[in-house]
Amino acid sequence: MPSKPIHSKPLHSLQKSPKAIRPFLKWAGGKFRLIDRISKLLPEGNRLIEPFMGSGAVFLNTDYDSYLLGDINPDLIDLYEQLKQNGDKFIQYAKDWFIQEENSKTAYYHWRDQFNKIPKGREKSALFIYLNRHGYNGLCRYNQSGQLNVPFGSYKKPYYPSDEMSAFSEKSKRAIFVCCSFNELMNRARRNNVVYCDPPYVPLSDSSNFTSYTKEGFGLDSQLQLSIKAYKLSERGVPVLISNHENALTKEIYQHAKIERFKVQRMISCKGSKRSEVTELLALYAAKN
Ligand SMILES: C[S@@+](CC[C@H](N)C(=O)[O-])C[C@H]1O[C@@H](n2cnc3c(N)ncnc32)[C@H](O)[C@@H]1O
Repeated sequence: MPSKPIHSKPLHSLQKSPKAIRPFLKWAGGKFRLIDRISKLLPEGNRLIEPFMGSGAVFLNTDYDSYLLGDINPDLIDLYEQLKQNGDKFIQYAKDWFIQEENSKTAYYHWRDQFNKIPKGREKSALFIYLNRHGYNGLCRYNQSGQLNVPFGSYKKPYYPSDEMSAFSEKSKRAIFVCCSFNELMNRARRNNVVYCDPPYVPLSDSSNFTSYTKEGFGLDSQLQLSIKAYKLSERGVPVLISNHENALTKEIYQHAKIERFKVQRMISCKGSKRSEVTELLALYAAKN
C-alpha cells in the first residue's frame, strides 16, 4: 500500500501542519517541525523502517501499513514497549509524578538517582518521562558510566502529555520496537520497505556538538558507514532517505544521493546559546529497480 502523508503543505513552508501529531517526548534533533518536508520525499512502500526513531515524529505523521522502529537507547525503547503493552494504565500511572511537590531541585535529583539505580520496568519508564519534562531543555544525556546526568530544568509547571501518549500508544499497534544499532535494523529491510534515517547531526563546528544521546556518541566513521549502507540498500531495491546538516563532510559522503536542501533556524550552543540559520539536507537514495 502506498504511503499517505497525513497532511500536505507547499514545499517552501517550514511550518508544521496544524494536524500534525506531536511526539510526547522533547527530543534533541526531533523532526516534528520538518515533517512536511520529509513526508513529501518518502517513497511509497508497505513498511517504514526508522533506525534512529528518537521521539517518533516521522512514525506518528506518516501512514504506512507497518513500522519497524529502532534506537540505540534502551530507556527509550523500554518506554515505548510499556506504552504499547499497557496503554492507558501506564499513562495514568506515570502521571503521578506530575504534581507540584515533585517539581523541585531536591525531588528531581532524588528521582534521577532512583532512575539510575533501578532496572527496566514501569517505574523506570515513568521516570524517563518525568526527567524528560522536568530536566534541562528535554536533553537526554548520559555520562561515561551510562548514568543519565541531565540537570534540573526549573520549569514553572511541566506539561504531562497524556493526549500525545495516547496517540502514540494507538499508533504503536502497527509498530515493532527494537533496541539496536542502525546497521542491525537496516539489515532487516526487504523489498517494498522504505528506510528513513535521522542520525545525530554531524557537528557544524568543534563546539557545537552539544549533545550526545549515548555514552558511545556517533562519530564520523558511523556517519560514513551509514551512507555506505544506504547506498547498498538502494542497490538492492530499498529506498533510503537521510536527514543531516549540510556541510563539506555531508556533501562528500552523500554524493551518490539526490539532495534537497533548505534553511532552518537552529539553537547553536557555543559560548552561550544563540539561534542561527543552518542548511538542513535530505539525501534520497532512490531504489535501483
Ligand atoms: C536526531 S535523533 C532522531 C530524532 C527523531 N527523528 C525525532 O524526530 O525525534 C537521533 C537518534 O539516534 C539515536 N542513536 C544514536 N546513535 C545510534 C546508533 N548507533 N544506532 C541507532 N540509533 C542511534 C539517538 O538515541 C537519537 O534518538
